[in-house]
Amino acid sequence: MSETIIKLENLTKKFGNFTAVKQINLEVCKGETIGLVGPNGAGKTTTIKMMAKILRPNEGRILIKINSGDLQDLHDVSAALSKTGFLIDIPNFYNMTAYQLLRYFAKLQHYPKDKINDRIDELLTFFKLSEWKYKNVKTFSKGMTQKIGIIQALIHDPDIIVLDEPQTGLDPLARIEIRKFLRELQTMGKTIFIASHMLYEISEICDKIALINHGEIIGFDTVENLAITLKANELNCVVLEPIEPKNLATILERLTNRLQSYLDQDLDPRISKIPIKYSQDNQGFKFYFDGKKESKVEILKVLIKEFETDFSVISYIQPRTSQLERVYIEMVSMDDQAIETKLNREEGNL
Ligand SMILES: Nc1ncnc2c1ncn2[C@@H]1O[C@H](COP(=O)(O)OP(=O)(O)OP(=O)(O)O)[C@@H](O)[C@H]1O
Ligand SMILES: [Mg+2]
Repeated sequence: MSETIIKLENLTKKFGNFTAVKQINLEVCKGETIGLVGPNGAGKTTTIKMMAKILRPNEGRILIKINSGDLQDLHDVSAALSKTGFLIDIPNFYNMTAYQLLRYFAKLQHYPKDKINDRIDELLTFFKLSEWKYKNVKTFSKGMTQKIGIIQALIHDPDIIVLDEPQTGLDPLARIEIRKFLRELQTMGKTIFIASHMLYEISEICDKIALINHGEIIGFDTVENLAITLKANELNCVVLEPIEPKNLATILERLTNRLQSYLDQDLDPRISKIPIKYSQDNQGFKFYFDGKKESKVEILKVLIKEFETDFSVISYIQPRTSQLERVYIEMVSMDDQAIETKLNREEGNL
């Protein structure tokens, strides 16, 4: 049975008249990885700062479970923070070497003294920073500083890990490494709460996504369920030989007629004006379908059996991330220009 370990109850933060976080309710279970995703200024950092007791909520509260006790108000438990590791915003460290800094944080968190050095070496090695151990962190590049920030959050081996935009400043390889590391933490049973404005970056490692916009949670569910709610279902089908332009219109018409009952009957025109598209560049079709598993099977059968002489299917997939992008666009209602740019880009990617 899943056990709630963090609970945000009607959490609200105001800065003067401005409400940055409005009545947020979220529950995180032990061992889960939750993504808090929203555009710049949505209220992610403010929420995390309340979880780290850096900011005090104006209304509502945060409940946390320490060891196997009951859920308790975060403000009443001083031990809570040492069970948690935080990376908040872009770290700004003191004038110290990486070693001094990490030692300082480990001691602060009461990590066993005789194990500190091994722990520092283990993490520096993983993040490929061993040779920088005795260098001043003030001289580190943005990405290196960010890595030290992540190590600092993990140094005392906390059960709950809260990371605010961990990918900031990191190059693609380092981002992949961080994801790999987060997966390792998942297998160790850690609970991870991670804020990001980049859905792509974190969707694959998150069990659930909480979408936040203008301080409000506008969706909290698994990636699959969020996509189903919005009927943003697509299938990408690559063919062996390019479709000749002179045949394209007829093929698209036949496909549309034949597959009508499996296609999305109520397709959002912001996503696409037609339910089947062909991209010459990617040599493939994109189908906006009704999201049912049976429809997915039927469409494939039709493509293979009834269009055998028109094209040969070489791949047929329902992309996960692009569905999520859709959800994101839909839910945070980005401005028209952003939608246009995104859709154009997707058109290119198919
Ligand atoms: N100390 C503060 N005083 C006044 N307003 C603040 C303060 N901190 C945050 N805000 C405002 O609260 C809103 C939410 O900010 P927050 O930093 O939580 O957003 P975010 O989701 O983390 O954005 P980003 O993706 O840019 O990091 C913003 O409009 C911001 O201007
Ligand atoms: Mg932020």
